[in-house]
Amino acid sequence: MKNKIIIFSVFLFSLIIIVLFGNNLFFGKKKELDKETVKKKNSQEIETNQPSEIKKYSLEEVIKHNTKEDCWMVINGEVYNVTSFISLHPGGSAILLGCGKDASDLFTKRKTADGEKIGSGKPHSPKAQDLLDKYHIGQLK
Ligand code: HEM
Repeated sequence: MKNKIIIFSVFLFSLIIIVLFGNNLFFGKKKELDKETVKKKNSQEIETNQPSEIKKYSLEEVIKHNTKEDCWMVINGEVYNVTSFISLHPGGSAILLGCGKDASDLFTKRKTADGEKIGSGKPHSPKAQDLLDKYHIGQLK
C-alpha cells in the first residue's frame, strides 16, 4: 500500500511539473512571438512614417514628354504624368495642349498664356484637382 502511495505521489508530482513547464514553454514562446510582432509593427510604422523621397524634375526633362503617348505636365510646381488619363479626359484632346509644358494656366484657368479661352475658359472643378493626385510623379526642380 505504502509503495502504491509513493508511486502515485511521484506520478502526480511529475504531472504537475509537466503541466507547469509545458505551459511556461507554450506561453513563453507566445510572449516572444508577441514581442516580435510588436517589433515588426513598430518597424513597419517607422518605415511608413518616413517621408518617401520626392523626385525632382527639371523643365528640360518635362519638355521631353510632350506627346499623347507620353505626356507629362507641370501644374503649380508639381509634375504629373497624365498619359493614361488622356483617353479619359472629359474635355477631349484639349489636354494635349499641356503636354511637355508648364500647364498651370491651362489647368487652373482653362486659358492659354495669351488669355485665349479653352472650352468654358473657367477653372477645372475640385474633382479635377483631386484627380491630379493619381498622376503625380514629383516636383519641378
Ligand atoms: C492642362 C491641360 C488641360 C486642358 C487645356 C483641359 C481642358 C479641359 C476642357 C476644355 C474641358 C471641358 C469642360 C470645359 O470646357 O469647362 C475639361 C474638362 C475636364 N478636365 Fe481638363 N484640361 C486639361 C487638363 C486636365 C487634367 C490634367 C485633368 C485631371 C487629371 C483634367 C480633368 C478634367 C475634368 C475632370 C473635366 C470635367 C470638368 C471639370 O471637372 O472641370 N483636365 N478640361
